[in-house]
Amino acid sequence: MFNQKKKIVIAIDGFSSCGKSTFAKAIAARLGYIFIDTGAMYRSVTLYALEHGAIRNGIVDEDALVALLDDITITFRFNPMRGASDIYVNGDLVEGKIRTIEISNLVSPVSSIGAVREKLVAMQQQMGASRGVVMDGRDIGTVVFPDAELKIFMTADPKVRAERRYAELTAKGDDVSFDEILDNVVSRDHADMNRAISPLRQADDAIVLDNSFMTVEQQMEWFDSQFERVVSAL
Ligand code: DC
Repeated sequence: MFNQKKKIVIAIDGFSSCGKSTFAKAIAARLGYIFIDTGAMYRSVTLYALEHGAIRNGIVDEDALVALLDDITITFRFNPMRGASDIYVNGDLVEGKIRTIEISNLVSPVSSIGAVREKLVAMQQQMGASRGVVMDGRDIGTVVFPDAELKIFMTADPKVRAERRYAELTAKGDDVSFDEILDNVVSRDHADMNRAISPLRQADDAIVLDNSFMTVEQQMEWFDSQFERVVSAL
């Protein structure tokens, strides 16, 4: 269907809860590419820090966390049931534990620590070294793969994003309120855009996808035309 002669890097950045992972996962399956959810990596470091005493009463102890970094090994393993990779920390499956509101509330200060970003960016660059990868995050097109052939910047109305996350969390039985989720979405947007190191910003050569009122199928149609345009110019 597509010109698959040359494998490329597809960088997907954007605001939290925009459906980046759903979109990236669908693209990767379509192209036979590897999908890397870099947000899951920042969440996993946050979980490890929480479980090993480097976060207490909601406060991140930066020195204690940096001292733990060498003990953390993150791996992805493909799970055919989900059609995506599950994330493991030191061999333990953490997929279910990292997507809670507690971790969402603590991940911003953790992801603003330089040593954390250095470690995870190096891992991400290694994972995408052979190309043929779809990576989603906040700094993929600007820092991790500034040479990505296709860069997409995703955005959606904050209320629409909060509704999506609320539906996701309540469906798995989490006791959360819509306002709490909306607060988290808005405060993470602010933290992501205003941190000193690698803040969220649209790369100059990224194309914008606002999916507030688009179905996944419509997003895929949009993607197909963008992909075709990029690979036919290679
Ligand atoms: O995509 P997500 O909501 O699961 O990401 C969790 C947090 O990790 C998000 O609040 C910002 C941070 N993050 C980051 O700083 N850089 C990335 N490449 C991916 C995520």
